[in-house]
Amino acid sequence: MIRFLIVVALLLLLGVGAYFYLNRTDVSDGTAPQVVGAPPSADVLARGEYLAKAADCTACHTLPGSAKAFAGGVPFKLPFGTIYSSNITADEATGIGSWSDDDFVRAVREGVRKDGKHLYPAFPYTSYTQLSRSDVLAIKAYLFSLPKAPQANKANDLSFPYNQRWAMGFWNAAFFKSQRFTPDPSQSPQWNSGKYLTIALGHCAECHTPRNLGFGLEHGNELAGEELQGWRAYNITSDPTHGIGAWSDSDIASYLTTGHADGRGSASGPMAEAVENSLRFLNSADAAALVTYLRTVPAHEGKDPITIDTEAAPVMASNQAAQGGDSANADNVGLHLFEGACASCHQWNGKGQQTPYASLLGTRGVNDVRGTNVTQILLHGSSLHAEGPNIFMPGFGDAYSNTEIAALTNYVIGHFGNKQGAVTPDDVAQRRKQL
Ligand code: HEC
Ligand code: HEC
Ligand code: HEC
Repeated sequence: MIRFLIVVALLLLLGVGAYFYLNRTDVSDGTAPQVVGAPPSADVLARGEYLAKAADCTACHTLPGSAKAFAGGVPFKLPFGTIYSSNITADEATGIGSWSDDDFVRAVREGVRKDGKHLYPAFPYTSYTQLSRSDVLAIKAYLFSLPKAPQANKANDLSFPYNQRWAMGFWNAAFFKSQRFTPDPSQSPQWNSGKYLTIALGHCAECHTPRNLGFGLEHGNELAGEELQGWRAYNITSDPTHGIGAWSDSDIASYLTTGHADGRGSASGPMAEAVENSLRFLNSADAAALVTYLRTVPAHEGKDPITIDTEAAPVMASNQAAQGGDSANADNVGLHLFEGACASCHQWNGKGQQTPYASLLGTRGVNDVRGTNVTQILLHGSSLHAEGPNIFMPGFGDAYSNTEIAALTNYVIGHFGNKQGAVTPDDVAQRRKQL
């Protein structure tokens, strides 16, 4: 909260001049004007659908289980209230049916609504600003080809001063740069398309790049890891120790498109959603391009770096059915809980029963002494629908107390990561409040 008040004070100090200068809209980027009234071709619709998936518009604009695709109403809980996504179907009354091409392009690339009011950056226009006009219009054509879904937008529930949309103008002046992606001629076409997929469509930075005091993305520290809504989005720079520099190309491609890479781990929480709704639909050329670009992201250690022990001694001393290494800890609460509730799916040797998705040895999560994502998955569970059978881990938030979750998390970190976990019951209580 203090952090936010400082930010607001800071932003108010920024000149109105800077605001108007940086916030001027630019909707022309040299593409030929569209023929008004001409129906979009099948190619454009197919491309629009592919792009809408690659940009993950669905996840944020369709309530899970709702038949009304893109009708909005998905809640985003922030420290200062809740924001709901909007209806972006072609319904004239409640959606964006009356928006022109320019209205839509301005919203997606500048974060400004049809009525001129600012959108909040929970909508990642900060990344989509890099999209080409033709790609944005292909997405619009696709959205407008779908059934209209009348559903009134939910009012945001934000406290003062965050409920003042005009204040976002100052935030934009400080942290947002309206800019299009420009290919780097010194790099291959594949690298350039991977960069476009990463920074514009996939908006990986929105979760993986550290944020500054004002919640702006820290440039120069691209993809070095950040925590959001209680989950840690890991360092995915080319750093071999703290990032994914040591992963093979096929590890990265497999993780992104199936949600799992052997010996590296499985995607849970927000990353599982990104895989399920978006990344698994990438064609193999685009997945390969993404990998090519990620390989070249400058190595950074990032905040709270996590080092992985791929041969954690307690695991090495265990087999499928016996705990081995840490069996001396007979009075360890965490160990007993693990034995009763977890070992059947995960096994003591960390290999995972039935599905390799449940293997724990060598994963970032169990090597993070703060236990951020391990606590999250224990509290809330995780599910991932990709190809093949559904991957499911039940939540234990209702079954266990904060003390038990903390003990279990620290045990998992000790056994599978060979590290001293630092999770307290208080940390668990805090994380319960976050979702
Ligand atoms: C991370 C979540 C997220 C993603 C991904 C996302 N949106 Fe949104 N979008 C939102 C939220 C939240 C709002 C409402 C923001 C506000 O009220 O200020 C919004 C608002 C909008 C609006 C403004 C509608 C209006 O009536 O004001 C448009 C248009 C839009 N999104 C289109 C898209 C498109 C197209 C994509 C994919 C390219 C997309 N969004 C992806 C969260 C998201
Ligand atoms: C909505 C937030 C979000 C977005 C968007 C997102 N990620 Fe993630 N990512 C996460 C989280 C959270 C984790 C940790 C998942 C876990 O603990 O299972 C993660 C994990 C990963 C990992 C595994 C790293 C490791 O060391 O285990 C990779 C690789 C990755 N993301 C790549 C990407 C790429 C590439 C993109 C863009 C195409 C992307 N992510 C977009 C939130 C996100
Ligand atoms: C029904 C089988 C099942 C049970 C029971 C189960 N898990 Fe899991 N667990 C899974 C699967 C499958 C995954 C991979 C899910 C994903 O990542 O989407 C997983 C993932 C995990 C992860 C990885 C989180 C990350 O991203 O870093 C941890 C840690 C974990 N489980 C711990 C536990 C603990 C501790 C218990 C006991 C309280 C437990 N699990 C019980 C199946 C299970």
